Amino acid sequence: MNNFEAYNPTRIVFGKDQYHRINELMTEQSIKKVLLVYGGGSIKKNGIYDQVMAHLANFSVVEFGGVEANPEYSTLMKAVEIVKKESIDFILAVGGGSVIDGVKFIVGAALYDGEPWDVLERKPGCKFTNALPFGVVLTLPATGSEANSSAVINRSELKMKRTLGGPNLFPIFSICNPQVVASLPKRQIVNGIVDSFMHTLEQYLTYPSGNLLQQRQAESILQTLVEIAPKILENPSDYEAAANLMWCSTHALNGNLRAGVPTDWCTHMIGHELTAFYGIDHARTLAIIAPRLFENQFDNKFNLLVQYGKRVWNLSGDDKMIANQAITKTESFFQQLGIQTKISDYTTNTAFIADEIKNRFIDRGWTGMGERKAITPDDVKEIVLNAI
Ligand code: NZQ
Ligand code: ZN
Repeated sequence: MNNFEAYNPTRIVFGKDQYHRINELMTEQSIKKVLLVYGGGSIKKNGIYDQVMAHLANFSVVEFGGVEANPEYSTLMKAVEIVKKESIDFILAVGGGSVIDGVKFIVGAALYDGEPWDVLERKPGCKFTNALPFGVVLTLPATGSEANSSAVINRSELKMKRTLGGPNLFPIFSICNPQVVASLPKRQIVNGIVDSFMHTLEQYLTYPSGNLLQQRQAESILQTLVEIAPKILENPSDYEAAANLMWCSTHALNGNLRAGVPTDWCTHMIGHELTAFYGIDHARTLAIIAPRLFENQFDNKFNLLVQYGKRVWNLSGDDKMIANQAITKTESFFQQLGIQTKISDYTTNTAFIADEIKNRFIDRGWTGMGERKAITPDDVKEIVLNAI
């Protein structure tokens, strides 16, 4: 196991009927003025807005709605202006990964002196060194953003989706109520299952490095997701299944699984490009790319593909057959959830995409990706071509 530092200061308040904790936790922060940030309006239809507002009565609240799925830079910059003009000192994000990620950007950009896009472009010396405090009311279990300090921001006019992170971008608290799953469209529930599954695989399906505990934690998350997926799809009001999904998605990306282990993340990096070019939902881009990437990296990932096949999918027989079947099982799982796993299932405009993504990776200096830094731009091109 490699050396590591673990740091996660976010207080998770998990379960039914916990919205009253918002008032208590914000009072502890000595807040004067709050910006309530939300998405396209689902919280006004499913009652979450009213429940949250009922516990903000003691605070001066300014609202900012309209953060898109795949949060847009230009929209978030409008919120940054409001934060400055209104002297906001705390932000409450009420939404899924897009709203939470958008707020991570806003809290950093509001206190940043330069052009915030430079931070997303990772220009030398450009970082959010300060950030306003913020809290989260999670409405969609998927990204783990409620328990980490990462964000992904979209800039459509440049067809770019870029990541952001830093130790001051953890939420102070996250209210995680599994009852929200009952009002989610099926599309978002399956996205949540796949995104959580893939976060786990990105940190598990690499090479053995003596990290026995994290491997078994990862396998537990994967097996739990496989077990609960049909139950939630049959009955989204099944509280126990929803609670397990929500806790799995938090655990998949709260920093535990990556402690001291090699991690891949190349499926995500390619997937972000598919969202940037085509607007395909984040989780679906992962379902498209992952099986093809595992085939491309078959030898490099062989030992853990075999372990994954045996322990998660209960496969037996010849190791090579198990490794192959583990990939097939993964893709079939996504398909059984109703997710299509080819780019051409989503668009006919595919001729340019493999070369375009390859060239972008070269331009950014991403010439050796994955846990072994073995995925070259040519591999990326092949993975994308095979995914069309
Ligand atoms: O905008 P509203 O009206 O709220 O509707 C949203 C949106 O249309 C809807 N929704 C959310 N909660 C709902 C609900 N509808 C009904 N009832 C509810 N309770 O769901 C739609 C999708 O929301 P979004 O927040 O975009 O989904 P998700 O949570 O999957 O987030 C995806 C974003 O997170 C990024 C992705 O790249 C993508 O931009 N990621 C963030 C990560 C992180 N910060 O660690 C890691 C991930 O790998 C991922 O990249
Ligand atoms: Zn993801």
